[in-house]
Amino acid sequence: MASQNEIKFMDLFCGIGGIRLGMEKAGFECVFSCDINAECQRTYKENFGEVPQGDIRDVSENDVPDFDVLCAGFPCQPFSISGKQKGFADDRGTLFFEICRFIEKKTPRVVFLENVKHLIHHDKGNTLETILSKLRVMGYTPEWRLLNAADYGIPQNRERIIIIASKEKIFDFTEIKKTPRRVLNDFLDTSGKFEYLEEKDYTLIKNPTMQKKSGLCFVGYRNKSIRKVGVRPGTEHLSRVHKQPNRIYSAMGIHPTLPSQETSGRFWILTSDNRVRKLTIDECFRIMGFPNDFIRPSSVGEQYKQIGNSVCVPMIGAVAETLKEQYFQKGASYNDSH
Ligand SMILES: C[S@@+](CC[C@H](N)C(=O)[O-])C[C@H]1O[C@@H](n2cnc3c(N)ncnc32)[C@H](O)[C@@H]1O
Repeated sequence: MASQNEIKFMDLFCGIGGIRLGMEKAGFECVFSCDINAECQRTYKENFGEVPQGDIRDVSENDVPDFDVLCAGFPCQPFSISGKQKGFADDRGTLFFEICRFIEKKTPRVVFLENVKHLIHHDKGNTLETILSKLRVMGYTPEWRLLNAADYGIPQNRERIIIIASKEKIFDFTEIKKTPRRVLNDFLDTSGKFEYLEEKDYTLIKNPTMQKKSGLCFVGYRNKSIRKVGVRPGTEHLSRVHKQPNRIYSAMGIHPTLPSQETSGRFWILTSDNRVRKLTIDECFRIMGFPNDFIRPSSVGEQYKQIGNSVCVPMIGAVAETLKEQYFQKGASYNDSH
């Protein structure tokens, strides 16, 4: 059995390396990375010292080193509710089958996949079932859960599906250690160049309430683009009539999911001094659990895209720790089932 610092992983669809940060924190060593996007490659190179290979379709299974864990946060556009939901009919959806080429040839001990929450509902569950049954056909037993970054010390309501598949034993998700919830305010800069809204440009609602389950606290909206058609008079203050980029959330709660499409960073927050400002790009990286010294060579618009596409590092780190304990540490038994 490999000792801890010899456990190797492959970082497919690596983006800017969020999964790598979480895996390395748990002691895994990256032996191969791949991403088609030149700006992601540039960021990855600055931080990890290597340029990821490009299009996965051009990478031969024979040209990659052996590894124990295959990690892939594969493109989510075909599965995302904000995409067109074509699933496997969309070319990008078939990229899952590119991952399978490496699993079949290299037979890693563990497969670690990450995707958007909507994958579970896509095509009435058929897309997920296709993924799971393909893993089974290759001899793996997959197990999956929806995990929320908010349960891992990050003030963001960001749910993602995590699929762990192994030939050895079923992954036990209940052993992943959660961290007490924290609020956005703990992660904000107290000084710097902030983009404030003038009072005339927004409306705060009366008696905002914290949503118990999500921890979100919608407090108001920018005074523009309020949808009136089909909305009952007197209900305009309800959050659903406001487009996402116009909504304002309290810093005393947690933040909604940072999406990849919002390249101008219109994430508005009400801070403890009762003013409304944009979340800065530094703060966006912080509420994804990236370290403050993470190097960001791309334009700010690109950075918003990159961070919205990435993963919450502490959540990946918590999964990686549990993977290590269950499959790679002394006493983690081979072919043990529960
Ligand atoms: C959801 S993002 C993954 C982000 C990553 N987990 C991170 O932490 O930044 C999916 C990535 O797949 C990449 N991608 C899309 N098509 C690809 C292809 N054919 N070959 C390699 N990478 C591809 C995109 O550039 C994007 O960075």
